[in-house]
Amino acid sequence: MTNARAWTLKQRPQGMPAHSDFELKEQPLAPLQDGEVRVGNEWLSVDPYMRGRMNDVKSYVPPFQLGEPMDGGAVGRVIESRADSHKEGDLVQHMLGWRDVATAPAAAFNKLPALGVADHQWLGNLGLPGGTAYWGLMDVLRPEPGQTLFVSAAAGAVGSAVVQIAKAKGLNVIGSAGGADKCAWVKELGADAVIDYKAQPVLKALYEAAPKGIDLYFDNVGGEHLDAAFATGRNNARFAICGLIDAYNTTEPTKLRYLARIIAARITVRGFLFTDYIGRMGEFYGEMGPLVAGGKVTSRETVHDGLDAMPDAFLGLFSGGNMGKMLVRL
Ligand SMILES: NC(=O)c1ccc[n+]([C@@H]2O[C@H](COP(=O)([O-])OP(=O)(O)OC[C@H]3O[C@@H](n4cnc5c(N)ncnc54)[C@H](OP(=O)(O)O)[C@@H]3O)[C@@H](O)[C@H]2O)c1
Repeated sequence: MTNARAWTLKQRPQGMPAHSDFELKEQPLAPLQDGEVRVGNEWLSVDPYMRGRMNDVKSYVPPFQLGEPMDGGAVGRVIESRADSHKEGDLVQHMLGWRDVATAPAAAFNKLPALGVADHQWLGNLGLPGGTAYWGLMDVLRPEPGQTLFVSAAAGAVGSAVVQIAKAKGLNVIGSAGGADKCAWVKELGADAVIDYKAQPVLKALYEAAPKGIDLYFDNVGGEHLDAAFATGRNNARFAICGLIDAYNTTEPTKLRYLARIIAARITVRGFLFTDYIGRMGEFYGEMGPLVAGGKVTSRETVHDGLDAMPDAFLGLFSGGNMGKMLVRL
């Protein structure tokens, strides 16, 4: 192999991104330097946060540079190494995604422990989405058994993990998702009630599912979902703001008609980032590893094949094209 292929951002999207915003480029593979490792990517992740990186604004992750390879979560195997720490065939997780071959100093590639799970789980329940679900629930929301939790985008990568961890912790779980098939899966995962937000107003359905209100809200969406959570939050309810996907492709301000309930109900709202917990990955693997390996926390994947499919997979996140984790298999 003499060339690698990588997706670049050709222009910054306005509103919903289009295929014409992306360009696949070939790059020559330079000989490895001492301490470098080359990895053949096998699984690439697409994640909603990547949309924010397409804007030229200062944020918690730097923006993608126009014309340069984009990056993101990936799992692959070492195909060449000039570092003692990594040998050919090692399975690694890293952040040089959106490309077929990744070359970097060895420290960029995390060797993965042998937990007996499918390789792509390191981008799902044992990766960013699973970690986000776990820490958002266990550290930000700190649930007590018997409490009522509402989680939006419950058929997505983060949401489906939240549903299952929350059930394992003895919570009453209400999940919302778009469409009957997704809702049926969320119910299979153990949710006590499901809301198909495309078929009915979220607020009405949430009142019906939780007549006494909700104690906890894990927000992946914002907008109408967040407003419904404010409306139904019980006294001292706690909200973990994980994502606001409803707002990622619009410049319209979010209208929150029930925001004032934050005062009367003494609602605590806290945003958080997965990266806040990077130093605690050992703890996370210790709890989630056995749950995933033992089948107590299960997953679904929506898989697109081939590097060419990256933009399709990415764009699908914003139209509900995925059940569970959206992945590209190389
Ligand atoms: N804070 C952090 O560190 C962190 C880390 C990872 C992810 N996140 C956030 O967590 C959320 C979920 O991420 P994920 O990776 O698990 O993605 P995901 O839920 O697997 O995929 C996105 C899903 O969002 C739903 N959606 C899209 N647009 C929507 C809208 N306007 N209103 C309602 N639902 C909409 C779609 O499902 P439906 O068909 O059900 O609509 C879609 O399948 C995102 O907001 C993401 O940015 C945050």
